[in-house]
Amino acid sequence: MSNWIDACAPDDIEPEDLIRFDHAGRSFAIYRSPEGEFFCTDGFCTHESVHLADGLVMDHVIECPKHNGQFDYRTGEAVRPPACKNLRIYATRVEGDRVQIELS
Ligand code: FES
Repeated sequence: MSNWIDACAPDDIEPEDLIRFDHAGRSFAIYRSPEGEFFCTDGFCTHESVHLADGLVMDHVIECPKHNGQFDYRTGEAVRPPACKNLRIYATRVEGDRVQIELS
């Protein structure tokens, strides 16, 4: 069963940036690509428990603030060590003036 959660307004996230979104004891990262699309991943790096929202977005990559591991936030793929385990990703949609993420 799909479960869409209201997360933020589109303008809460600058293009090529991300925000942290906490919900029901979990933490997520929501990204706005340079093309204006929205993506969502788990909020913590898979290497250690560090908030990715404190990291840097470059194009379609999020760089972890702690050891500079990188992930493609569109697919969750770990693309630079020491990050080697992929991030979990979540579907997003824009409904009216809200960005929503899908939790299963
Ligand atoms: S905690 Fe993210 S790369 Fe180490």
